[in-house]
Amino acid sequence: MSDRLIIFDTTLRDGEQSPGASMTREEKMRIAKQLERLKVDVIEAGFPASSNGDFEAVRAIAHAIQGSTVCALARANESDVRRAGEALEGAGSGRVHTFIASSPIHMQMKLRMAPEQVLEQAVKAVKWAREYTDDVEFSPEDAGRSEPDFLCRLVEAAISAGATTINIPDTVGYTMPWQFGVLIASLRERIPNSDKAVWSVHCHNDLGMAVANSLSAVMHGARQVECTINGLGERAGNASLEEIVMAVKTRKDVFPCVTGIDTTHIVAASKLVSGITGFPVQPNKAIVGANAFAHESGIHQDGVLKHRETYEIMRAEDVGWGANRLVLGKLSGRNAFRTRLAELGIDLGSEETLNHAFTRFKELADKKGQVFDEDLHALVSDETVTPEREFYKLIALKVVSETGEVPQAEVTLSAGDTERSVHTRGDGPIDATFRAIEQVAHSKAKMQLYSVNAITTGTDAQGEVTVRLEQDGRIVNGLGSDTDILVASAKAYINALNKLHSKQERLNPQLAANA
Ligand code: KIV
Ligand code: ZN
Repeated sequence: MSDRLIIFDTTLRDGEQSPGASMTREEKMRIAKQLERLKVDVIEAGFPASSNGDFEAVRAIAHAIQGSTVCALARANESDVRRAGEALEGAGSGRVHTFIASSPIHMQMKLRMAPEQVLEQAVKAVKWAREYTDDVEFSPEDAGRSEPDFLCRLVEAAISAGATTINIPDTVGYTMPWQFGVLIASLRERIPNSDKAVWSVHCHNDLGMAVANSLSAVMHGARQVECTINGLGERAGNASLEEIVMAVKTRKDVFPCVTGIDTTHIVAASKLVSGITGFPVQPNKAIVGANAFAHESGIHQDGVLKHRETYEIMRAEDVGWGANRLVLGKLSGRNAFRTRLAELGIDLGSEETLNHAFTRFKELADKKGQVFDEDLHALVSDETVTPEREFYKLIALKVVSETGEVPQAEVTLSAGDTERSVHTRGDGPIDATFRAIEQVAHSKAKMQLYSVNAITTGTDAQGEVTVRLEQDGRIVNGLGSDTDILVASAKAYINALNKLHSKQERLNPQLAANA
């Protein structure tokens, strides 16, 4: 019988550390629910010591998730570990993941600690974590560039102190697949108590090797892979969950293990993460890219029509393509709406917010007829979660765009208790709209990204717009959806302004963690 390969998803922690991918508590909860639906074994929900917001998010996820283990990250110091342990109180199954750097460059330049001090701190951290849970993971950060003899001593000591999972990170994406596999094999062989822990890997994608390195490690005994939806993560990202899972499933003949993932939820997870973070998925991305199963050339089309396996090694429906579920329509009532939101892990907080969202759902159902899960996610992404987040409100928008004429926009916006209408011109209709909004808000924020995606297929689909704004080093993504992309754009810009305005929105955790 094949071994089980544990899938550890870190979209909500390492993924969130990508600049601009910072998520609210409610957004994290929705992704956590989707990960649970995917049957991910471990969800790394956040880094509680990085901010109060992240502590609360981890705590809420730990309470809400029953089907997966919920993990919290902590540096190897007492206050971080205790914060992680406290955030997990009440979890059905909770894991503390503690880490400390082990490479010469990180120990000398970043930590300014001697190897013996690092070893001592790691042991203490694992012991503090064991006060909260029997499930403790230890990572020697930058293991890929660490000195092998020291790595062996450090990991042996961590296992003796009570670590039950040893995670070997290639933090800077430096190693090559054949080297990384050999590293895992040699650590397992050389460390006397190596059989007392599950071996895990965490590979970054700086040289595009994250998936290959992870799979090479699996071939050499790793039985947990850390990965993220769409490969989201610091810099070039992490190993992509969908690629790892589908490689192991498609090439059963070479991998000595199986995952427990329900692959039919992969595409929905990819769309959800892309929609929330505003990081689009490239069309040719394996598994989840729009072209991943599209056959353009005549020869390929002919082959696939005659016999699918001529050019397809996986079935699109096995990863959830074409699985837009028609959940609600024009005649659906409030209860059906509420129930489906709950099934998707969406909690709108108050009755008032639910009523508001229901009104918008009805308007959408009238325009579109069919409302899919993706539409519901988009609908609540630009919905008010707390009154504080809706300081700015779009009251009306009129845009005039004509061949040969300068586009013009008239926007009526409320800002707190005041309401103003502004009329401006711009380089294009969207530029004119954003200029008009800025004339009211005066945020002086810089736009880092503007992207439009169709939420579902067809010309009646809603457009989902992401606007990423940066103000004094703080980066937020605003989302807006509508069947009219100009309205969706205005909503996205205003959503981002409301996030900048809100005191509850937290900083990118990376900034806090490095402080
Ligand atoms: O890349 C890394 O080393 C990490 C650790 C915290 C596991 O993210
Ligand atoms: Zn990482």
